[in-house]
Amino acid sequence: MAMSLPVFVVVLVLTAMLGAAQVTPASWRQPNITKPLAERVRLAGAALDTAIDRLGIDGYFITDDATGTAGDLYAQMALFDMATNQSKYETALGQYFKIVLQSGVNFSNSGLTHPFISDSLAFGNAAAYAYVAYDKNPIFLQYAVDSWWWGREHTLSTQDISAGKFPGMNFTLVKVCQNATMAGGTFQNNDPKNSLVEGYASGYFLVLSALLAEATSDPVYLQAATESSTFIQTQLTNVQKIVQADITADAKSSPCSVISDTDPTQSGLMLEGLAILSSFTKNASTQNLLNELLLAVIPNTGWQGENGIVSTDSGGGDMNLLRGLGAVYSRNTTTPELQRYVGDYIAVQFNAVVDFATSNGTDIYGDSWTGPPSANFSGLNQTDALGALISALYLQNDCTSTLSPSAPSPTILASLVPTPLSHHGRSKIGVIVGGTIGGVVALGIIAAAFWLWLRQRRERPPPVVPSALLYEPFPGATPSPFIPSTSTPITSTPSSPSAPGAPSPLFRLGIKPEEPQNPPRSPQMRSIAVSAGDGNGVRFDGPDIEQTGAVIRTSDLPTERLVRLLNERLQGRAWDEEDTPPGYPVTDSTRSST
Ligand SMILES: *[C@@H]1O[C@H](CO)[C@@H](O)[C@H](O)[C@H]1NC(C)=O
Ligand SMILES: *[C@@H]1O[C@H](CO)[C@@H](O)[C@H](O)[C@H]1NC(C)=O
Ligand SMILES: *[C@@H]1O[C@H](CO)[C@@H](O)[C@H](O)[C@H]1NC(C)=O
Ligand SMILES: *[C@@H]1O[C@H](CO)[C@@H](O)[C@H](O)[C@H]1NC(C)=O
Ligand SMILES: *[C@@H]1O[C@H](CO)[C@@H](O)[C@H](O)[C@H]1NC(C)=O
Ligand SMILES: *[C@@H]1O[C@H](CO)[C@@H](O)[C@H](O)[C@H]1NC(C)=O
Ligand SMILES: *[C@@H]1O[C@H](CO)[C@@H](O)[C@H](O)[C@H]1NC(C)=O
Ligand SMILES: *[C@@H]1O[C@H](CO)[C@@H](O)[C@H](O)[C@H]1NC(C)=O
Ligand SMILES: *[C@@H]1O[C@H](CO)[C@@H](O)[C@H](O)[C@H]1NC(C)=O
Ligand SMILES: *[C@@H]1O[C@H](CO)[C@@H](O)[C@H](O)[C@H]1NC(C)=O
Repeated sequence: MAMSLPVFVVVLVLTAMLGAAQVTPASWRQPNITKPLAERVRLAGAALDTAIDRLGIDGYFITDDATGTAGDLYAQMALFDMATNQSKYETALGQYFKIVLQSGVNFSNSGLTHPFISDSLAFGNAAAYAYVAYDKNPIFLQYAVDSWWWGREHTLSTQDISAGKFPGMNFTLVKVCQNATMAGGTFQNNDPKNSLVEGYASGYFLVLSALLAEATSDPVYLQAATESSTFIQTQLTNVQKIVQADITADAKSSPCSVISDTDPTQSGLMLEGLAILSSFTKNASTQNLLNELLLAVIPNTGWQGENGIVSTDSGGGDMNLLRGLGAVYSRNTTTPELQRYVGDYIAVQFNAVVDFATSNGTDIYGDSWTGPPSANFSGLNQTDALGALISALYLQNDCTSTLSPSAPSPTILASLVPTPLSHHGRSKIGVIVGGTIGGVVALGIIAAAFWLWLRQRRERPPPVVPSALLYEPFPGATPSPFIPSTSTPITSTPSSPSAPGAPSPLFRLGIKPEEPQNPPRSPQMRSIAVSAGDGNGVRFDGPDIEQTGAVIRTSDLPTERLVRLLNERLQGRAWDEEDTPPGYPVTDSTRSST
């Protein structure tokens, strides 16, 4: 018995290491930042200005990107200023918001038949960040609140659920899916026939509500944020804890069917919302949820290879994932070990974007973060890359972070003991995955026991670094040899086991056979979004152009000139390294919580 104990424990510890290897970035490419901050600021500023220069007189990109992409860019302008403690883009943003409001009250973009709710909310997110960035300038709060109302009008409330119907929607609402309420879910668009409640819209609404809750302390926003995050967690999260695309809310036609596609955007929005919430509520269960999501999302092999560089199904990077991770990192709202892990991952993306997605000196960033770069500008692809460039502004230059791989220590794992958060009615696989996590925790504890046992035997003091704990029994074995062959336990999404009556393949792909004259959005942005109804949330130069174009009246021309002037001035004021004020951004990471 005593003889077999070491062997037994070695096997267990080995298993624990394999478990930990899921999140060990030893194979990641360059998880450290070597570019000085001033250079990173210059790169991000130049990439921003390049994008701003491509905005049209209506405030949207001239290139045929989804309208929301401009909103995402506006958010990055504010986030850039937050990270660098400037108000470089305050005036421009004020102008752009005003212009976009002309194409629809509360950023609703009413020039389109059925605009995507998430596209509208992207502007609200931007306005809320601008409010924080620019010293609580009240005009930005007003814009954010207006946008919130538009989102609220398309989000299921508990009253809607009990009434069984939603204003403007022509179907009966399902009351419960997966033994949990559908309240908190936001519809994809306002098409009366479209019953899809989706991860994009719910995620953008979550972030907006969380930012407003933080900025105003109004409990209405906190409640909305909690409902959104609960909805995403209970209805859209798969067994691997990755956020999926949509769920149908029609009680009579495939109720509760989950479209199980995943991309980093949906999980990134959830990360961002949870980071904001947990940083000001200090709610332990929100914190746990965030930690769990980080440990699921960062190693997810569905959208990256062993080098750790994000590469989605369409081959590109992802802005929302990096914005979410940037929120986690800048708010310092997770454990120190996970904080370092997130920082290393952001660094991988930053280095990849700079090395592979752009040609030196062009400041144009292509779709693929693994290269090759494209000389052609795309608002979407540029905005994606900006996600990495801007979140990396919070990182410290360091030469030490790669020396010890950022495997979460048993302490982290122990902090992730499954909480009784509503994992209702999950399938057997859920139990297995839950069991696996629990198992890893248990193994961590066993590893700790083994370490104590070793310490007794060796009669020498152990290393004090907690993350060295797991590796101590194998002084010669660095973690890296274990990674490549074992980093597959989290695989890309299986179809949802809990979806009864799965949608047809066409439905899943988001391709509606009829009405081919309405092109879907660029595949990267919405491979699954245009799924029902007219699918008309697309900005295109088709038959609707008069409608969309009509918002620019001749009386707006002075504004156009103003914007062009602003653009020129912004171009002329590209960041100069010598202008760098002493001691700015990095330490100021809690600024946004004022
Ligand atoms: C726009 O926002 C205001 C609140 O700021 C709200 O009263 C109004 O109902 C909203 N309109 C729509 C169409 O969302
Ligand atoms: C609602 O759906 C029913 C049955 O599909 C249809 O007869 C009715 O015209 C629809 N109403 C609207 C306003 O679309
Ligand atoms: C923490 O968040 C959870 C779910 O998000 C909520 O149910 C709970 O009431 C919150 N706790 C506190 C103390 O606010
Ligand atoms: C982040 O939080 C930890 C405590 O969790 C603290 O020790 C550390 O100094 C913080 N880092 C920054 C940059 O504020
Ligand atoms: C880009 O420029 C940097 C120095 O500014 C240089 O080290 C790097 O090799 C260049 N890359 C390419 C692809 O030319
Ligand atoms: C770039 O633009 C040129 C000219 O419009 C076009 O021929 C080429 O295919 C484009 N390349 C990419 C990668 O889109
Ligand atoms: C931008 O990304 C999309 C989607 O991945 C890709 O199809 C397109 O070619 C890219 N555009 C340019 C100009 O590189
Ligand atoms: C950064 O990481 C790369 C690869 O992991 C390594 O070659 C390089 O020495 C590291 N640089 C520093 C300063 O740590
Ligand atoms: C459904 O939820 C209720 C409480 O919310 C719980 O009592 C019940 O056991 C759950 N049913 C299933 C099948 O999970
Ligand atoms: C940020 O800027 C404000 C003035 O706009 C200044 O008071 C503050 O000290 C700056 N903070 C840092 C960290 O540079």
